[in-house]
Amino acid sequence: MVEIVPITAAYIESFHRTLDFVARERRYLSFVQAPPLDSTRAFILNNIQEGYPQFVALSAGDVVGWCDVTPKSGPIDARVGVLGMGLLPQFRRQGNGTRLMAATLEAARRVGFSRVELNVYRSNTDAIRLYQKAGFVLKAVQPREARDDGFDKTLLVMALALDTGR
Ligand SMILES: CC(C)(COP(=O)(O)OP(=O)(O)OC[C@H]1O[C@@H](n2cnc3c(N)ncnc32)[C@H](O)[C@@H]1OP(=O)(O)O)[C@@H](O)C(=O)NCCC(=O)NCCS
Repeated sequence: MVEIVPITAAYIESFHRTLDFVARERRYLSFVQAPPLDSTRAFILNNIQEGYPQFVALSAGDVVGWCDVTPKSGPIDARVGVLGMGLLPQFRRQGNGTRLMAATLEAARRVGFSRVELNVYRSNTDAIRLYQKAGFVLKAVQPREARDDGFDKTLLVMALALDTGR
């Protein structure tokens, strides 16, 4: 049973381990290891304090996945959020990403984000399908110099307009 809940301070270390694992897969995220635990803790505590949506998937009390929306940049873009997510391999393709995304987008709408953006590698077809199902549309394609990574690192920029009712 995988439970989707808002993150709390108690889950920071477990979240950090999961983020680090997915980063080290080197296929999905733009970084190859998690940031240091201290800066991750500061980031999460700030998200909680500001009310930014950050949900985690829990299995047997451990964080096995996450989905968050945080502001893109400073005050000018305050209502534009950037979405990030991931799951440990053994928890993928079971609907957990769909559930994490639904909870996070609902919270993003509630706190007033009017648009959510994300970046995804063109090779990441599972993620792209999930984003399309949630209504994200392709906004830009950023080719990368060919590198011998063995997969297509062309970056797709996708976006979703949220009806905040404001
Ligand atoms: C991208 C990611 C978060 C998607 O989450 P997920 O839980 O795998 O996604 P879902 O299971 O909700 O949906 C993916 C597929 O599994 C299918 N699926 C859902 N429940 C299923 C079930 N019970 N049995 C079989 N397949 C199922 C879905 O239908 C979907 O496939 P479809 O769109 O072809 O129908 C996850 O694959 C992941 O962590 N990938 C690595 C990290 C990553 O890429 N992060 C995003 C970077 S941009």
